[in-house]
Amino acid sequence: MMNKYERHIFICTNRRDEDNKKGCCARNGASEIRDAFKEAVSKRGLKGKVRANQSGCLDACSFGTAVVVYPEGIWYSVPRPEDAVEIVEKHLIKGEIVEHLLIPRSWAKP
Ligand code: FES
Repeated sequence: MMNKYERHIFICTNRRDEDNKKGCCARNGASEIRDAFKEAVSKRGLKGKVRANQSGCLDACSFGTAVVVYPEGIWYSVPRPEDAVEIVEKHLIKGEIVEHLLIPRSWAKP
């Protein structure tokens, strides 16, 4: 089956109550991060090839704003909107993993 998009970016925008110890990406600026991804995808002419979607909790709450890029399955911790732009410029356009924003591999192991 053909894929409609070459890549999907999922950006957690989940919000929890202020007193929830797990925290949440919404309190780490997730909506600004999501907007930065969408704007950068559009500005670089990637609409139709790359889809930036907000998502619910990705179970990487301590790394918020948590982001995953498929089909590669690369997980990023994205603290600032300019970091979202860097991921679009380097990962999505040049195919380079943005090492300094990666969520540590040890987290993903069962
Ligand atoms: S709240 Fe964002 S990964 Fe859980």
